[in-house]
Amino acid sequence: MSHTTPKIIIAIDGYSSSGKSTMARELASKIGYRYVDSGAMYRAVTLFALRNHLIADDGSIDKETLIKELPSIKIDFKVDGDKQLTTLNGEVVEKEIRGMIVSSHVSPIAAIPEVRHRLVQLQQQFGRERGIVMDGRDIGSTVFPDAELKIFVDASPEKRAMRRLKELTDKGVETSYEAVLANVVERDHIDRTRAESPLRKVDDAVVIDNSDMTHDEQNKLLLDLYNQIINRLG
Ligand code: CDP
Repeated sequence: MSHTTPKIIIAIDGYSSSGKSTMARELASKIGYRYVDSGAMYRAVTLFALRNHLIADDGSIDKETLIKELPSIKIDFKVDGDKQLTTLNGEVVEKEIRGMIVSSHVSPIAAIPEVRHRLVQLQQQFGRERGIVMDGRDIGSTVFPDAELKIFVDASPEKRAMRRLKELTDKGVETSYEAVLANVVERDHIDRTRAESPLRKVDDAVVIDNSDMTHDEQNKLLLDLYNQIINRLG
């Protein structure tokens, strides 16, 4: 009798710039799963709102128009080698969605219940056949409450800001440590205190504080957790 490895759902949640995306991407590639970056989807909706002048200079959002437009916003991922490029209505927007302008408006956009409902639906479709690693803020709590493995990643705000600054500088984006730290702290606050599926650690999540962990230690820990679940299910 042939034995096939069961396919599970892995939910990785945590604070901004905690290294979730790197962790999730590398684990998915190691175990042959699909990786979905749910934050990129909120960023793409934010870019749509900015391009369509639905965010005023004072930061206020024309929610009514945005909600009306939601059904026409198509977000997907285009596979390019080992990269996944976020697309908005068919256009690759990977670079634009990572900039500081999108970062500074994304959390208020992600707090709009209708935006969340639409994106959660899409995210659940990506996971229909399991075999997926998804990272975000509400994956273990709302998108896949039945995920077999839930991880909650934490690290100090200063460590996270340093990491994000390096990432942006490597990409040629000019900014300062202070600006990045302020953005990280502000997004954490909005994400934690919003009414609709706020960022929180669910009871069945494994907490990983990677402030002082090396990349390899982190990857090994994740792979061990995955193997434990598979052995239990197998
Ligand atoms: O890149 P970083 O880890 O800082 O954030 P991200 O994962 O790209 O997510 C950007 C923003 O989208 C977050 O600050 C949240 O406001 C929102 N988000 C969310 O509300 N729910 C998710 N599942 C993923 C992201």
